[in-house]
Amino acid sequence: MSTLKDNDTIFFYRYMDSWLLSLPVFLIITYVAKFYFQYFTRENPLPGPMPFPVIGNVIQMRGHPGKFAVAMQEKYGEIWEAYIGTERTIFLCRDDLIANMMSSSTKTNFFNRNNNEGLKEMGVHMEGIVFNRDMQVWRMNRKLLTHSIMPPNYLKEFVQVTQTIFNEVENYWEQLGLDLEIDIAQWMPRFTTDITVKTTTGKPFHSLLAYYNTQSSTKDNNIEVPISKLIESEELSHAIREWNRMLSAHSFSFVIYYICQNPYVKLQLEKEISQVFGNNLITKQYKITYEDIEKLVYTEAVIKEAARLTPVVPIITKETSHEEEIGGYKYKAGTKFGASFIGIHLSTRYWQDPKKFMPERFLKKVSDSNGTVRYEAGNNIKKNTYMPFGGGVRICPGRNVAMTEMKALTVLLFGRYDVRLVDPKAPLAYSFAPAIQCDELKLFIRPRKI
Ligand code: HEM
Repeated sequence: MSTLKDNDTIFFYRYMDSWLLSLPVFLIITYVAKFYFQYFTRENPLPGPMPFPVIGNVIQMRGHPGKFAVAMQEKYGEIWEAYIGTERTIFLCRDDLIANMMSSSTKTNFFNRNNNEGLKEMGVHMEGIVFNRDMQVWRMNRKLLTHSIMPPNYLKEFVQVTQTIFNEVENYWEQLGLDLEIDIAQWMPRFTTDITVKTTTGKPFHSLLAYYNTQSSTKDNNIEVPISKLIESEELSHAIREWNRMLSAHSFSFVIYYICQNPYVKLQLEKEISQVFGNNLITKQYKITYEDIEKLVYTEAVIKEAARLTPVVPIITKETSHEEEIGGYKYKAGTKFGASFIGIHLSTRYWQDPKKFMPERFLKKVSDSNGTVRYEAGNNIKKNTYMPFGGGVRICPGRNVAMTEMKALTVLLFGRYDVRLVDPKAPLAYSFAPAIQCDELKLFIRPRKI
């Protein structure tokens, strides 16, 4: 028979049980209420999708911030807001709105990239270049990098290394068969890795060879330095991290896709190859030079147009150091802003038929005295409307290297091979992690004949 004291104890535990169970529910309700209270009373509310607590609008992005930004611009206009997790970000999709973000002055209010906790944990927010928030250290590192990669001599050597590595890939392709089906999205990142490592450390990296060995029944074991040893090297990991080799690799895969999708463009490209190299075909014996690469006006326009349609970095986010006025509103220090490059690249405000692949946009039309029309380098692209390499004080320092590399690869590939898409109807397969990357691009490649 239970006593009064026992009943009290049972009541107490039941009470505690239900209280403990309802505590998390209470906390969640409080958090959600506070989140939406802050959301509905935020300063300068802008149009944008309704966020969820904790995750913000990340689910609506479906892993594609670029596509999301374009869809939101269509719905809400050229200035809108979204939440990346719990962080409110103001997205800007017009040249005048991003003008301050693209300022080249070191006094810019937009020096810092977003203060992401993950980056802090990795310790990269105060070192290196890309995520560095310490201006003094950043300035020194950036100067060092720029001095080593900008001079023409470096670019000249870069062209030679690109060609050597291309010859290596050709040997693998030859061994795999003459009329070959390849997934170029698999070859390209290894290709740019080997080029980067060779030019920065002078050592071979053999990631192409390692990949070839996975594709072939006969293995080539000509690896001089174990890959693991190289990966451990401080010098190399720095080179790999900072050199954004992946950006070049994926950008180049997109260039191939657009050329193959546009037979007229392919024809014009072959014409330019024949003008510059004196033949419709670049033979293996021909050593292409940096001077040759500089003459490739149409090829450069093709690469620029591919980067306009599919910029591998579709959005750049920055955080203000001081108060900032944009679009008639004042925002306090620490506000996050996103410049939607992709939205501006695809806007009818700046581009005629923006979804069409038209390299001529980047060229000047010139009529000769005899009436023949030809294209020259140069165009009237409005400031802050074309930013595949970002802009302002933190603009990509590797843009010349990347462009030289892509031009060399374009003429080597299309000058020596007949390249076709395995499925011309298949849309471009890409994902976002943490820039746009080509997931698959299946090609038939066959050596060209004169
Ligand atoms: C097609 C290839 C490439 C693309 C599309 C690309 C694009 C970009 C973009 C959009 C940015 C951000 C700029 C901004 O904040 O406004 C950037 C930064 C950077 N890129 Fe590239 N990049 C490429 C290749 C390279 C290469 C080859 C290198 C090195 C040689 C390089 C080194 C860097 C560095 C160090 C930064 C950080 C700059 C800073 O914060 O001061 N990139 N790149």
